[in-house]
Amino acid sequence: MSKLTKRILIVGLGLIGGSLAKALRSRTICQTVIGYDRDQAELDTGLRLGVIDEAATDLMGAVENADVVVLAVPVKAMETVLAEMLPALRSETIITDVGSVKGNVVRAAEQLFGAVPENFIPGHPIAGSEKSGVAAADETLFEHHKVIITPLPESNPAAVTLIARLWQAVGAEVLQMDVERHDEVLAATSHLPHLLAFSLVDTLAQEQDRTDIFRYAAGGFRDFTRIAASDPTMWHDVGLANKSAILQKIDEFTEGLAQLRDAIETEDGRTMLGIFTRAKAAREHFSKILSGSAYSQVMNIKETTFHVQPGGQANGTIRVPGDKSISHRSIMLGSLASGVTEVSGFLEGEDSLATLQAFRDMGVVIEGPHQGEVKIYGVGVDGLQQAPGPLYVGNSGTTIRLLSGLLAGQKFDSELSGDASLSKRPMERVAKPLRLMGAVVDTGENGCPPVKIKGGQALKGMHYDMPIASAQVKSCVMLAGLYAEGETSVTEPAPTRDHTERMLRGFGYQVEKQDNKVTLSGGGSLQAGKIDVPADISSATFFMVAAAITPGSDITLEHVGINPTRIGVVNILKLMGTNIELLNEREVGGEPVADIRVRYAPLKGINIPEDQVPLAIDEFPALFIAAVCAEGETVLTGAEELRVKESDRIQAMVDGLKILGADIEGTPDGAIIRGSEMGGGVIESHDDHRIAMSFTIAGLRAKGEIEIRECANVSTSFPNFVELAQQVGINVRKEEL
Ligand code: S3P
Repeated sequence: MSKLTKRILIVGLGLIGGSLAKALRSRTICQTVIGYDRDQAELDTGLRLGVIDEAATDLMGAVENADVVVLAVPVKAMETVLAEMLPALRSETIITDVGSVKGNVVRAAEQLFGAVPENFIPGHPIAGSEKSGVAAADETLFEHHKVIITPLPESNPAAVTLIARLWQAVGAEVLQMDVERHDEVLAATSHLPHLLAFSLVDTLAQEQDRTDIFRYAAGGFRDFTRIAASDPTMWHDVGLANKSAILQKIDEFTEGLAQLRDAIETEDGRTMLGIFTRAKAAREHFSKILSGSAYSQVMNIKETTFHVQPGGQANGTIRVPGDKSISHRSIMLGSLASGVTEVSGFLEGEDSLATLQAFRDMGVVIEGPHQGEVKIYGVGVDGLQQAPGPLYVGNSGTTIRLLSGLLAGQKFDSELSGDASLSKRPMERVAKPLRLMGAVVDTGENGCPPVKIKGGQALKGMHYDMPIASAQVKSCVMLAGLYAEGETSVTEPAPTRDHTERMLRGFGYQVEKQDNKVTLSGGGSLQAGKIDVPADISSATFFMVAAAITPGSDITLEHVGINPTRIGVVNILKLMGTNIELLNEREVGGEPVADIRVRYAPLKGINIPEDQVPLAIDEFPALFIAAVCAEGETVLTGAEELRVKESDRIQAMVDGLKILGADIEGTPDGAIIRGSEMGGGVIESHDDHRIAMSFTIAGLRAKGEIEIRECANVSTSFPNFVELAQQVGINVRKEEL
């Protein structure tokens, strides 16, 4: 590697200075690493351990000959050291520092130099340990750690680049921030936790029986207070240097602690559980962000690819995860109910978790999910509180559309946003009817998210003649209807899933149904209850089709919801000749459930009856695969809604199947698919979970390997899809980058 610069002087050979020196030397990033420290012993150790090439005893001389000076002294000493070296500093020398507070260093430089020199680039490596001194120097300390540099508007871009490259060269990831923001962020993420650890240990150490406390203090105390062994001088300096931001955070924390104290004193279990469950969820979410796997605006989704080898089978008995539509509604209605709702079989997929998080953000205490169990402490129809910021709902269309209705009736303003795919989906279909009820709702560009809702509006009941068959629109209007004066009714052009109606009734809310019209009146209340979420027929579909297309297959899917408004896939597969049996039919919590057994039988092409389309709306990507494996032609019409799902599903399936060599043509509202052979190929799923899973089962009949790109979103509805697919005999492997 060519060297970045010639002579780098590290002033202050502590843990950070020493580690940087050692890393620079071991990777030969510059010609010479010179160390300076007031403590001769540290310098000697530095030389002896090979941390530095040369030890300087005269600061002025060393500064004069340096190309880059790194100030690695305690925060409060920065000013003194800068003042000392000022006369020897050449204008072209680049200076940086490693202090964990930036405002004070910048102010000190301003005072000394009149203005911050253009070659002074403040920096802060977010790395360290409770150890100190050059003997603890670790050349890997910065690897995969973040370094924040805080250049000023007047900074020299070449100097900024050099400092950034220097940190990158020792393995760090470099970020830029402005000085003030840096100090605020660090007060919360580093300074406050350190001060709390010091204070806790100090407080406990003063108690009479402290020996016992420390003798028996195992996990919790040890984990929480590890950082109380950090360097006291350094933290003294940080405390003073970042005074105002730290005081602000201490005040916020004190308020939070007082709230917890109160809750314990008054035995207010709900508030306690609220604090703990919110904290646990936030901590887990942060861990996921840190490991790059959470759904979140700030995350980099891991690039996930499925590799499917041709052949394989679909045999056995499995239970797929809980129904997504019912899981969403269980959180929504459970939150609005009075009393505690216990949910089992909840889908722990990213979409329903987004709904769960939204209600936590609005002040609802929710325990779990833990193995599908969720406990919701309902706040009553009027008990939601304003979320601290916009509600981010990831990829979930159901969350954003149903919540729009529910939030239109609240006293507070709300904003809903989502990921790139959701941000392209139409929201005017819900905004329009809500406006007719008196809601104030804005959508973003082209009627897409974000959805902004103004609270405090008096909604009026109305009759809505729905132009499209959409359960999301119907449910949105009904949820707004809970808050509207008088009657709200919706007529649908064709039957759509009726989980909202069923669950409302289950919670004791009166909902009338007459032909294709549902009606409810505002102002009622919901009573908490138990909800058993059946397995999702939309997830079961992939395995039903898998068995339907693979000779010799025999698969049973347990405890699947067979609500008549969801059963289109069973009807369509039967019409195509599949051998399907519904076994052990029963009703669970107002929803019909069965075990579904599917055995292979030769398939034939059909004209899909249009009345089945809304009943199988999410199942068409998989049904396209079945059609390719059928003899003759299958024609789908009346399915233009497929073009506005998580992707344009008609286009995505047509493009993908053509790549595999299948005979398919897209039409504006469907497709014409002729039975044909499939080869291998590389398929784009367009971040759409159902496209990814459909091409996975195509592998059972394909002649070559299928590689499916952008599969991370499978976790929105079916987190253990790959594991179950492998279990039944599909040769799929997941690769995450
Ligand atoms: C859903 C309704 C359907 C469906 C979606 C879930 C629901 O959407 O595609 O996956 O839970 O209400 P539309 O209402 O847009 O048809």
